Amino acid sequence: MTEMLQPHEPAASYLARPDEVRRVCLLYSGGLDTSVMLKWIQDQYDAEVVALTIDLGQPGEDYDVVRGKALQLGAVDARVVDAREEFCRDFVVPAIKANAVYGLGYPLFTALGRPLIAKIAVDVARETGCDTIAHGCTGKGNDQVRIDGTVATLAPELKVIAPVRDWKMGRDEEIAYAREHGIPVKGGTEAAPYSIDDNLWGRSSEGKWIEELGHAPEDDVFQLVTRPEEAPDEAEVVTIGFEEGVPVAFNGERLGIVELLERAAEAGIRHGVGIVDHIEDRIVGLKVRDIYEVPAASILLTAHAELERLVGTIHQNRFKRSLEEQWAYLVYAGLWWEPLREDLDAFMESVNRRVTGTIGVKLFKGSARVVTRESPHAVYDAQLATFSESGGLFSQQASPGFIELWTLQSRLAWRLHNAPGPGAE
Ligand code: ARG
Repeated sequence: MTEMLQPHEPAASYLARPDEVRRVCLLYSGGLDTSVMLKWIQDQYDAEVVALTIDLGQPGEDYDVVRGKALQLGAVDARVVDAREEFCRDFVVPAIKANAVYGLGYPLFTALGRPLIAKIAVDVARETGCDTIAHGCTGKGNDQVRIDGTVATLAPELKVIAPVRDWKMGRDEEIAYAREHGIPVKGGTEAAPYSIDDNLWGRSSEGKWIEELGHAPEDDVFQLVTRPEEAPDEAEVVTIGFEEGVPVAFNGERLGIVELLERAAEAGIRHGVGIVDHIEDRIVGLKVRDIYEVPAASILLTAHAELERLVGTIHQNRFKRSLEEQWAYLVYAGLWWEPLREDLDAFMESVNRRVTGTIGVKLFKGSARVVTRESPHAVYDAQLATFSESGGLFSQQASPGFIELWTLQSRLAWRLHNAPGPGAE
């Protein structure tokens, strides 16, 4: 543990040398890792610690308790920042406009939260005279990339330490250290619990049996969403109203974005909506399995994508998909501050100017299915869409001519490739 503290050249320019750490802003969750860190940083660096806890709407958190624990462990200051509004407005809403999903179903809640958490840490570090930001990320995940990357980008004068990445303590050693230093340990010494991360946009669980690919989910992992098997036998239809791509109404009631997300989550939770069992390509090379519970995202992304497709032309809809893919990848990959993301956002904004209307979604035992659609900008003409009629902008007599030209190149190529020639077998 102590050998790493000999002053040495850090592996990257933004990392702190042990001898330059005086006052540290610690991203503090109140859990075991960051509580051990809070003490350990004071001891090992002889530094002061400002504890910072950020509320992104993680359910069931008692921030007074977390704050009190930080002060009790010797923090010179302990702050709780409610960033729910900013998170929704500046991170989740752009993700909705980009229909942002990574891989086969990860709506990026953690990836969206980390740049904001790190940005707030930069603000608080500057305000409280800290030279260093500390976080509890391991060296195997994406979160270290998102946090270190944000600090290095926004605040080149600040340094980073990530003790969990460096120290050689396993869970048992951490518990022993905690006991020794009077750090309360919840739940004693039994096997490690799931590793959880959550906010308003979703929740992830990792570890335990989740690491065995052949192991089907055990019920106790679902701490947020009702198991679909236990969801009500009655379906429920909820409506989401959008204005220019932003969700503004839930079941006809106008709501602020934070409350709207909470209401959508509650409905999804009731009906077992938003369970995703996901294998993910991390940017640090690993493939890792996560169990996600994303009730709000499942409903709102489904509704938004549906409305957007209704108001866009076939060309707009097809093109946007490829940019959405880019957007989601950049954000997943910890490059929130990359200017390409802003370029992409400008495009997303432009498309979303038309995304106004209301979508009805039926929730039933784990599924969220669109059942009604309504928009003043729908590129839809009920009369044209009926099967038998000709008239107005559509002439059925014109269709055969269209087919002749539309298939012309394909037919020519087919003939060429399939012609029985002299050398043909
Ligand atoms: N695999 C997801 C991601 O990389 C979720 C990570 C959850 N983070 C955590 N510290 N448990 O974004």
